[in-house]
Amino acid sequence: MKITVLGTGYVGLSTGVCLAEIGHNVTCIDVNTEKIDQLNKGISPIYEPGLESLLVSNMGEGRLEFTTSHQKGFERAEVIIIAVGTPQTDEGAANLVYLEQAAKDIAQHLKHDAIVVIKSTVPVGTNEYIKTRIKDGLESGVKIEIVSNPEFLRQGSAVQDTLRADRIVIGADNKFAAEKIAEMYRPMKVPVLQTTIRSAELIKYASNAFLATKISFINEMANLCEAVGANVEDVAEGMGRDQRIGSAFLQAGIGYGGSCFPKDTAALVHTARKNGVPFAIVKETIETNQEQQKRLVSKALKRFGDIKGKKFAMLGLAFKPETDDMREAPSIIIVKELVRLGASVSAYDPVAMGNAQKVIGDEIEYASNAFEAIADADALMIVTEWNEFKNLDLQKALDEMKQPIIFDGRNCFREEQLEDIKNIEYYPVGKPPFINSSNK
Ligand code: UGA
Repeated sequence: MKITVLGTGYVGLSTGVCLAEIGHNVTCIDVNTEKIDQLNKGISPIYEPGLESLLVSNMGEGRLEFTTSHQKGFERAEVIIIAVGTPQTDEGAANLVYLEQAAKDIAQHLKHDAIVVIKSTVPVGTNEYIKTRIKDGLESGVKIEIVSNPEFLRQGSAVQDTLRADRIVIGADNKFAAEKIAEMYRPMKVPVLQTTIRSAELIKYASNAFLATKISFINEMANLCEAVGANVEDVAEGMGRDQRIGSAFLQAGIGYGGSCFPKDTAALVHTARKNGVPFAIVKETIETNQEQQKRLVSKALKRFGDIKGKKFAMLGLAFKPETDDMREAPSIIIVKELVRLGASVSAYDPVAMGNAQKVIGDEIEYASNAFEAIADADALMIVTEWNEFKNLDLQKALDEMKQPIIFDGRNCFREEQLEDIKNIEYYPVGKPPFINSSNK
């Protein structure tokens, strides 16, 4: 099948590469010339495990190409997948400017019938609206059908999530179009759910908001565990073994970040409010998350009283491991709070340093490795659970600190690993602190 993907962000690029991998001929279009030049050289503009090697191999086999030209990109396209961003507006709604532009570009340059698939996360009703926008601008005689096909991939495991998804949702009011898109995905052998367009649009928001709610729930549970001396990991395991609940997304931490949960929960609340539905549970999820992101700082204040003049080492800046994405990363809030309270920060992340500097600026020091970040610090905060940190030679790293005090936002260490470290104070999430006073 000849497929064209509009937008080469996480979703567009992963989708394009994976559709080429299952044998389709894919052209990806982006307006960013620099990005397209890089992609044409086989370089992925984002850090995403496994993506670049598939990019190179599929380009080599002539199934994948990149262009800035809509005219060229739409030639012979049977399916056009829109995967442009839908960032958040000031009111919390989804901003549709890029989608509007995509509609204009299709209307202007498409010269034959095609199926337009919207993969971008869009509020209910948007597919129908965009269909009208495209149709109104198309040359007479050219016909399109629209299919809502939301994306469920996660950053850091985008390739695996795409090729081995739990389900593919196809929302359409035209049987032929729905069948064609099901056929496009058939080689992936993933179960398909066919629905109406509006239900498909809502499935995406419902899924992300539900997962975000699960995280806020377990984070509140962690806070309760800390207050009563229980262990949230045991609680999560006990809950998760109930198949109706499931164990995924019950990892307590310092709140969710990223380009999806924060924006999609806000957009769902916005849509609900507009339609007279309070949806208070998602509002609470958002508020709980905002509080949770400040939790490590509250713990530091409780431990030190005043943190003015203290030096904090920060391990991890990206919103989660295996990505260099800093969007809505809890590290941003934590740094802001620490600096506001007069502390200094020395941070390290294995891949997000460049992006972090763009977002956080020069208010903090950027170390070239974990040991350098930790050296001479009064306390260490673990913000992203990179394997590199879990496998750190703790004894050696902590030796360089003034006193080994760790606020671990991601529960990277077990007590056995800490037992031999003199004077250690370890404050995990949702578990009693481990304080090794026996060596004092
Ligand atoms: C999320 C969804 O998981 C995907 O299904 C969806 O396609 C994507 O949004 C999207 O809408 O594009 P993503 O944001 O890439 O994917 O990453 P997640 O792995 O879901 O993590 C989101 C945040 O939740 C991270 O900050 C992570 O640290 C946090 N999290 C996740 C927890 O705090 N606890 C958990 O148990 C799981």
